[in-house]
Amino acid sequence: MADHPQTHSGRIAVVTGGGSGIGRAIAEGLAAAGALVAVLDANGNAAEETAGRIAATGRKAMAVTCDVSLWEDVAAAAREVSAGLGSADILVNNAGISPKHDGKPAPTLEMDPEEWAQVLAVNLTGAFHGVRAFGPAMAARGWGSIVNQSSVSAKRHIAFLGVHYPASKAGLIGMTKQLAGELGPSNINVNALAPGRIETPLMRGVNPEVNEAVRLDTPMRRLGTPEDVAAAALYLTSEAGHFVTGQVLDVAGGWMMS
Ligand SMILES: NC(=O)c1ccc[n+]([C@@H]2O[C@H](COP(=O)([O-])OP(=O)(O)OC[C@H]3O[C@@H](n4cnc5c(N)ncnc54)[C@H](O)[C@@H]3O)[C@@H](O)[C@H]2O)c1
Repeated sequence: MADHPQTHSGRIAVVTGGGSGIGRAIAEGLAAAGALVAVLDANGNAAEETAGRIAATGRKAMAVTCDVSLWEDVAAAAREVSAGLGSADILVNNAGISPKHDGKPAPTLEMDPEEWAQVLAVNLTGAFHGVRAFGPAMAARGWGSIVNQSSVSAKRHIAFLGVHYPASKAGLIGMTKQLAGELGPSNINVNALAPGRIETPLMRGVNPEVNEAVRLDTPMRRLGTPEDVAAAALYLTSEAGHFVTGQVLDVAGGWMMS
């Protein structure tokens, strides 16, 4: 990894949901770019695995078991990261869920209200918890960078999702713009990513015909990779991307153009 541009040298980064898929690629990308990375995940073994993969490249990383929907967990994680690596410069609010039943989303008119509440708690409130726990040290230092993992589904109807998921992802966009205004004076940039269909464990179990239909409807004629999304996160959290704030960056091969 020595030849990877060291755009994040000396930075301390936190990636939620870093145990799998896009979050793992972002954690590994940040580490390769020189950051010390804290991998937070509700699945502690998955977090350990990502941190181990980073350590195997000679970089420093730590794993923290943390359910982002629980404020106590995130507040404790902030203390743990601060003691283990130092206070965070970069926060990537990436943890997210998209419940399916036999590969299909629950129809809204039959959805269990508890399922709605859980998706909002993880995907949207989890991001607020991250900002609330890690943001104050960024503001005190006068430099910070926050990326919220939204989705193309916040902006267009997608048939294979439950209503809670796009609702949570649209909430993240509103939160991103509000935070960009509020935290800009503290030299913290806040942006959202809106990935299209990305090949990760989250989308397995969906009918392959659905993914093929998305591929054919995508001008770049392929689904995205976790590394495609990581590259965008790296730019937004680098010094070079620091003047970019309050933006929603589609990473979707042209499936979404807004
Ligand atoms: N895969 C896609 O096509 C796609 C598209 C757009 C947006 N996204 C978003 O990107 C993010 C990552 O998705 P992915 O495809 O890599 O999913 P994934 O299922 O591969 O990984 C998600 C990770 O989040 C963790 N997680 C789940 N609930 C958590 C919680 N309460 N607290 C902490 N960690 C938790 C999981 O353990 C897992 O390691 C999600 O926010 C997702 O909504 C994904």
